[in-house]
Amino acid sequence: MSVKKKTIVLLPGDGIGPEVTAAAASVLRECERAGRHAWEIVEKPMGGCAIDAYGSPLPPDTLAACQSADAVLLGAVGGPRWDDLPIGKRCESGLLALRKGLGSYINVRPIRMRDSLLSISPLKAERVTGCDIEIVRELGGGIYFGEHRAEGAERASDVEAYSVPEIERVARYAFERATKRRKILVSVDKANILCSSQLWRKTVTRLAAGYADVKLEHLLVDNAAMQLVLAPRQFDVIVTSNLFGDILSDAAAGLAGSIGLIPSMSCGDGTPLFEPIHGSAPAIAGQDKACPVGAILSVAMMLRETFGLGKEANAVERAVDSVLERGFRTADIADPLTTPVSCSRLTAMVRTDLKDLLRRAEPTG
Ligand code: IPM
Ligand code: MN
Repeated sequence: MSVKKKTIVLLPGDGIGPEVTAAAASVLRECERAGRHAWEIVEKPMGGCAIDAYGSPLPPDTLAACQSADAVLLGAVGGPRWDDLPIGKRCESGLLALRKGLGSYINVRPIRMRDSLLSISPLKAERVTGCDIEIVRELGGGIYFGEHRAEGAERASDVEAYSVPEIERVARYAFERATKRRKILVSVDKANILCSSQLWRKTVTRLAAGYADVKLEHLLVDNAAMQLVLAPRQFDVIVTSNLFGDILSDAAAGLAGSIGLIPSMSCGDGTPLFEPIHGSAPAIAGQDKACPVGAILSVAMMLRETFGLGKEANAVERAVDSVLERGFRTADIADPLTTPVSCSRLTAMVRTDLKDLLRRAEPTG
C-alpha cells in the first residue's frame, strides 16, 4: 500500500470556524481510514485569534505554512471584538492577504439546490428544483484591492480597476468550467456605467471566439440579481468581478436555503484554499449549533479538485445528502418536519454514511 503524505493547513479562525473545521477535518480522517491516502493536517492561527495572540490576523508563519502546503482549509474569521479596527488591520484584511499570498485570483462557488432542502428554499420548488450554478468570482483584484482612502471625516473612496490580463485569466477559467458543464457562460458586469466593466465585457467577448461550443451572454449586475431570484435555473456558469461575485454568491446561497451550505475553492498560482462562504456567526459560536455542511462540502471540493479523488468527493456529497434527506438538520436549515441536531451530531452521521459508502466504492488510488 503506497502512502503519499500531503499537507493540509487548517485555519479554524474565529466564531464557528473551529467547530466547522473540526467537522471537516474529521471527514478527511474518515476518507484517510478508508483509502490509501494520508494527510498531514497542520493547524495555524488566523483571524481575530491571531490578532490577539500575535498582533496580526495573518502571522508570517501561518502564511508561509499555507504557501508550502498542498491545500488550505479555512473556517471563518472576524467577530465583534475586532470590528472597530481600521481597514488594513482587521481580520478581513488577513483573509485578503492570504488570498493574495496564495496567488488565488479565482474563486469557485457551486450553488446547488439539494432536493432534500426544497422545502426551505424561499422560492417555489418548480422554480429551483435542479438548480445548479457555478459562480466564478474574480478574487485577486477589483475594488477589494484598489486604493481605499478616507479623506478626512467627510469623504472616502475605493477604486475599482481591472487590467486585461486579470480579466483574461479568470474568464478563461470560467469558459473552461463551462465547457465541462452545460456550456452556458453568463458574464456579469455594470458596463452601462463603469469603464472597468466595459473593459471586462470587451475582454470576455474577445475570448469567446476560442470557445465556440460555449454560449456566452452578458448581464448587467442589477438584472443578474433579479434573474437569479426569478429564474435561477437558466444559469450554468457565472463569471464576474470580485465585488459583484461576493454579493451574487450570498444571494444565490439564499436560494439554496442557507449560506451555511455553500463551499468554495480559491485558486490560481499557488496553494488552493477551501472555505465555506459563511461568516464566523459569533452569535452561535461555541454552542455546537453551526451548520458544518459548507465546510464538509469544501472538503469534497478539495478531494475532487486538488487531490483528484472524485469517488471520495462524490461519497462525501452523497453522505451529506443522505443525512439531510433523512431529515436531520442544524437550526439554520431546519423546518417543522425535521429533526434538530447539533453540528457534531450531524457530522458524526455524515461520517457513518461516508464510511459505508467508501467501503462499497473502490477508492481512487
Ligand atoms: C467572502 C467574505 C469575504 C469577502 C470577507 C470576509 C472579506 O464575505 O468570502 O465572501 O468579502 O470576500
Ligand atoms: Mn461574502
